[in-house]
Amino acid sequence: MSRASGKRVLYNPRFAADRPDAARPRLSFEGCMMHGIKRVPGLIRGVVVIAAASIALHAAAQGTPAPKGESAKAVPAIVTQVCAGCHGVDGNSVAPINPKLAAQHPDYLQRQLFSYRTKDGGGAPDRANPIMAGFAMMLTPEQVREVSVYYASQKLVPSAAREKELAFLGQKIYRGGIAAKGIPACSGCHGPTGAGIPAEYPRIGGQFAEYSAAQLVAFRQGTRQNSVQMSAIAERMSDAEIKAVADYLAGLR
Ligand code: HEC
Ligand code: HEC
Repeated sequence: MSRASGKRVLYNPRFAADRPDAARPRLSFEGCMMHGIKRVPGLIRGVVVIAAASIALHAAAQGTPAPKGESAKAVPAIVTQVCAGCHGVDGNSVAPINPKLAAQHPDYLQRQLFSYRTKDGGGAPDRANPIMAGFAMMLTPEQVREVSVYYASQKLVPSAAREKELAFLGQKIYRGGIAAKGIPACSGCHGPTGAGIPAEYPRIGGQFAEYSAAQLVAFRQGTRQNSVQMSAIAERMSDAEIKAVADYLAGLR
């Protein structure tokens, strides 16, 4: 659909066979319920103000009012009570082992939260992580959707590359892959600026190097098994290549 009419083909034809296709269900996320209230004309404005106030009260009862610039949206209670400790209220975590969630695609976040859970029937999760497993298991499907939409709507404060030489090698891998090892260009799926494609490829630009490297290692060793494509790529990467591309990603935007 959008892909066919788009400017460039953002996936590597090598992987066309296992590319998640348009047939995959796409979830749509509603905007804020208070959106548009300002445009209501004169007479009924008073009524609207009262309604808005009660909506705000209701929202406050469920969560903490959002920080500056986000006044129309409430932060989901689960975010302030649980997730913020590691991922920040705005999805820009401080410790580099905790991924930044701000501006990530909502469908991707949602899928990850389900990946951390034990499968129905008790099967091991696709993404084995002792920290996130517990948090993911305690969320209702409605909360999963709510936190995913919320964090996706936040502004990313990008990380930065630290080692010039390393990032230079990383850039070569990101843009051109490593032909001799059959490693495709990362940009083919994640896009030239690392912004990804909603519903298909996650944003990876601006993420902490430590986290990105840990994920590539997890794909390589099989503790993360929710992407056939990424497992096939990471299996061919050396520690040095992983370190380089992860450093480059931190500065990519
Ligand atoms: C104790 C710290 C901690 C808390 C609290 C926490 N997380 Fe995490 N989260 C992590 C770590 C560490 C990872 C990376 C795990 C891995 O390697 O897979 C992570 C990964 C994630 C990811 C995957 C991100 C990606 O880019 O793939 C999502 C989504 C997420 N957390 C959402 C949440 C939500 C929602 C909550 C609250 C219900 C929460 N987390 C609470 C530490 C935490
Ligand atoms: C064929 C398409 C494709 C290519 C090429 C590709 N990726 Fe990915 N990548 C994906 C998909 C799909 C996911 C999300 C998997 C999921 O849903 O869990 C992903 C996830 C990731 C993640 C985890 C993001 C997170 O927040 O946890 C990292 C890091 C990553 N890719 C890095 C790379 C690097 C580095 C390269 C190049 C060496 C690369 N990718 C090439 C498709 C691709």
